[in-house]
Amino acid sequence: MAEDLQIAQGTKTEQYAAMLPQIRALMEGEPDGTANLANLAAALKEQFGWLWVGFYLVKEGELVVGPFQGPVACTRIRKGKGVCGTSWAEERTLIVPDVEAFPGHIACSSLSRSEIVVPVRAGDTIVGVLDVDSAALQAFDEEDQRWLEEIVKIIPGVNA
Ligand code: SME
Repeated sequence: MAEDLQIAQGTKTEQYAAMLPQIRALMEGEPDGTANLANLAAALKEQFGWLWVGFYLVKEGELVVGPFQGPVACTRIRKGKGVCGTSWAEERTLIVPDVEAFPGHIACSSLSRSEIVVPVRAGDTIVGVLDVDSAALQAFDEEDQRWLEEIVKIIPGVNA
């Protein structure tokens, strides 16, 4: 297993396309979900340089912070609260171009300006969310949504 990431240059599509086989290889054969979530968060942060990349996991009816890369974050988020809790409650990806315009956004870091939250499913059940924050406004679009939704389907120990 390769434990280093070849950072790809180019368009966003080229970067995601170059990353996908590498993150598959990084997680392949590792049954521990926590290990895979940790490496996945690190790989995404390394490739794209986002402010915060990580997972909140459903535990006893709340989201609890899991493996992440970036500044210290809120520990628990209730269903329906913030971008993460809304994504979980509505069972869909949320793209927030300007966090200040999202009612109820939870500001873990004052540097965060835009955000995408993607539910992580195991079968039909949401077991957590991938949360990505950027220091730039409007950092995320449907293309990020498409790639990140693919990436969160292939995590051994979580849903694969
Ligand atoms: N902004 C998120 C909270 C998590 S932090 O950004 C890491 C939200 O509103 O749910």
